[in-house]
Amino acid sequence: MASATQTAAAELVCFNEGCRARYAITEVLYNCPQCGGLIEAGYARFDADPDMLKSRFRDRRTSNAPLDQSGVWRYRELFPFLDDYRHVVTLREGNTPLLDGPIAAKYGGLERITFKHQGFNPTGSFKDNGMTCGASQARRLGMKRVACVSTGNTSASMAAYAAAAGLEALIFLPHGNISFGKLAQALEYGAKTLQVEANFDQILALVRVLAERLGIYLLNSMNPFRIEGQKAIMFEMLDQLDWRVPDWVVLPGGNLGNTSAFGKGLREAKAAGLIDKLPRLAVIQAEGSAPFYDYWAAGARGAFHPVTKPETLATAIRIGDPVSWPKALHEVRTSNGTVEKVSEQEIADAKAQIGLCGIGCEPASAATLAGIRKLTASGVIDRGADVVAVLTGNLLKDPDYIYRYHTGQLEAPGGVKIQPTFGNKALVVPNDPDKIAKLLAVAD
Ligand code: F0G
Repeated sequence: MASATQTAAAELVCFNEGCRARYAITEVLYNCPQCGGLIEAGYARFDADPDMLKSRFRDRRTSNAPLDQSGVWRYRELFPFLDDYRHVVTLREGNTPLLDGPIAAKYGGLERITFKHQGFNPTGSFKDNGMTCGASQARRLGMKRVACVSTGNTSASMAAYAAAAGLEALIFLPHGNISFGKLAQALEYGAKTLQVEANFDQILALVRVLAERLGIYLLNSMNPFRIEGQKAIMFEMLDQLDWRVPDWVVLPGGNLGNTSAFGKGLREAKAAGLIDKLPRLAVIQAEGSAPFYDYWAAGARGAFHPVTKPETLATAIRIGDPVSWPKALHEVRTSNGTVEKVSEQEIADAKAQIGLCGIGCEPASAATLAGIRKLTASGVIDRGADVVAVLTGNLLKDPDYIYRYHTGQLEAPGGVKIQPTFGNKALVVPNDPDKIAKLLAVAD
């Protein structure tokens, strides 16, 4: 267990290459006051012995100390922004498994696939990894109120961490476009919940104005401390692989905070000597909400064009103007990665295949396998590659989608019917053993 106080120099830094302005780690900043660029946390040069660190991380798995039990704070040397660990609010986030999915591997055109399932988090998504850091920083700053706009998972997570931290939670949601499961979580955790008649991108602009006016701490992913926590998804993955570096890490892209976090974490792990190469990042977007894919496919030069009316049934990634695209672009380029897009039908079928592995996930997460299937078909990913797909949210986040798919009632935006390719309908049967036995063709 580390001491309560730790001294590594941490500061906020403008991400913009041409600016790199530096600010105190305790400033409330989401964009650089000088150039408007994104903000990130930066640390003094790291000189701990990598083998010592690896064994310390491993030892902490047997500890009962709350900080060590967290699959985020276990790796705290790699994001030393707090000056006092008594500010930490943890629900024992992270600790998510690596799972084999042979059926999904075959479907994706791979010999093997490993899922890193973030749906095993306390509120059922990867947002908890970031939220523990964001909420802890809010406490350190003495904030009373925190806010976010969300497609559902950020709000569920923020509501839980705010409740655990004794902070007031204010949530803004696109009315009618988040799953019931996620909305229900926010209500149960006691958050003040506002459903706005606008889309995610429009509400984010609104909330930024309100946060400034009302002095509320914003916990969307342009908050640099969210990104620090989400880096730990990669640290935990590497630790679970005994620090073997996979060829590819595949993840869905919405607001692109997670892509930014994974890339930063991996680069920093390499700089710290924990790994000697980077995995390639593959970011998958839903066809109707794919501005990052469009930008990438057009050569990633010049102006970035948001999608003004983003659409997808994978509501978690229904985002047309992703805030973190400059960071994400840097990470995809640095890792020699790629960006792909997938259709509604492809997402739905890939999701059913992940279900057939006994694993399951929410729609946005299944974009990973759908993307892998395309990328193996086009030869970008080799059949024999070592691939980790990050499933970002739990199956139970959106049961309505699942029921509709399996019963042939799922419709893509615009009314196009999704085929239940791997549909599995419940059968209604009479209370009669003979008839049921006959139906099941069970020999008596
Ligand atoms: N998968 C799930 C399940 C998500 O909830 C999100 C984002 C993403 C993928 C995309 O991650 O934005 O970092 O690229 N959900 C946010 C929310 C936007 O409000 O819950 P990203």
